[in-house]
Amino acid sequence: MSKKLYIKTYGCQMNVYDSQRMVDLLSPLGYEVTETPNDADMAILNTCHIREKAEQKVFSDLGRLRAVKDERIQNGADMMIAVGGCVAQAEGAEIIKQAPYVSMVFGPQAYHKLPEMIAKTTREYDVKSGKRTGIGIVNTDFPTESKFDLLPQPTTSTVSSFLSVQEGCDNFCTFCVVPYTRGAEYSRPVVDILKDARHLVSLGTREITLLGQNVNAYHGVSPTSNDVEWGLGRFIYELAEIDGLERIRYTTSHPMDMDDLLIKAHGDVGKLMPFLHLPVQSGSNAILQSMNRRHTSDQYIKVVERLRIARPDLAMSSDFIVGFPGETVADHKATLGLVREIGYAQAYSFKYSIRPGTPAGAMDLQVTEEVKSERLAELQTLLNEQQLQFNQTKIGLVQRVLVDRIGKREGQLSGKTPFMQSIYFDGNQRLSGEMVDVMVEKAFANSVTGSVVTVD
Ligand code: 5AD
Ligand code: SF4
Repeated sequence: MSKKLYIKTYGCQMNVYDSQRMVDLLSPLGYEVTETPNDADMAILNTCHIREKAEQKVFSDLGRLRAVKDERIQNGADMMIAVGGCVAQAEGAEIIKQAPYVSMVFGPQAYHKLPEMIAKTTREYDVKSGKRTGIGIVNTDFPTESKFDLLPQPTTSTVSSFLSVQEGCDNFCTFCVVPYTRGAEYSRPVVDILKDARHLVSLGTREITLLGQNVNAYHGVSPTSNDVEWGLGRFIYELAEIDGLERIRYTTSHPMDMDDLLIKAHGDVGKLMPFLHLPVQSGSNAILQSMNRRHTSDQYIKVVERLRIARPDLAMSSDFIVGFPGETVADHKATLGLVREIGYAQAYSFKYSIRPGTPAGAMDLQVTEEVKSERLAELQTLLNEQQLQFNQTKIGLVQRVLVDRIGKREGQLSGKTPFMQSIYFDGNQRLSGEMVDVMVEKAFANSVTGSVVTVD
């Protein structure tokens, strides 16, 4: 009999990818995805630790799941509750202790063991007393075997799919939890990811976004020799050879890992889209140093210049943190100056917030909330202006669009331009999943609208 699986995914694209792998893992056990926890036999929260108050959010969602579980038990059913992802990795034992209705907690490097964990859990919990009577499972191991070798091949795909090629990070930026929750840097062998890519394309994927916490640090074993490694650039040239694959993107990158071949690929490989998310975090050299970013503002600008020589229409995106410990007015101005110099098509910006256990959390001169809010507002005003300006530059131009969604309004379609802009236009639903040419007519801060020109 089929069972229902509810997964809520928080945070980054890597988590979206991991959630899909969990679905693939559980489908042979008879689990089918459901959009609501109410009829679920199993509920997984795939959590993210990057934002502030991550734990509180997870606990409040768990409270809601508990109510559903209690009701289901009272109606003679049950729902197994599991917490995965980076909060699980960081808080594992604490969650099992505080939430007796949770059956299992597992980190991002342990989810391939889900079927095994499900078989092992005794998941008894007493509704009346709210106490655990069985055993809760915590698996926050960083196993020596590769979880990727143990994951099944996907059985379904979307026109635009994620593919994890690299995981973890060795950079230890002083604000970041990733090296602790995702572990050490690991690159999958080229043959494995090429196989996955071909498989995705055979299932209908036309765009692949290569994922990794530090994806351009990729250095996978080459197809020909275990002693030779390929960087991301070399891999992208190979990936582009796959017939039927039309678009390649990758995220997220570190400026210092942008090597010559990868930069060259931006000029040579037509399938590599002219959009790059290259986080800089700050424009101040003092702050960059204190963040342990291993580059100066000038070095970042040089990397972007070289990229734009290779691909003059490259649209840039970044992440910024305002109010890092010790950030002065001059440091903040340097960030605004860098933004003006680069000109971003998109960007994400955040107030610095302490992640327990990271070096920056223990630094003196923490910036007040009020100052952080002011600086964030100022930076976001500038970034929004730039985003609108960028979108306006495309008015009157025809953009090739991969239609990846049906729009909210009847008859409306939506997709992405090569520059990662969200674009909305009217068209027949059968165009969903296709590439269409769309003339951009209007530009807004977060999207553009237009009309279909020709259909392939
Ligand atoms: N505070 C604020 N922003 C953070 N980020 C990561 N850690 C923190 C933190 N402690 C931001 C960075 C990173 C993005 C994914 O999240 O800008 O690039
Ligand atoms: Fe975190 Fe990215 Fe720095 Fe790695 S490079 S520590 S993932 S911010």
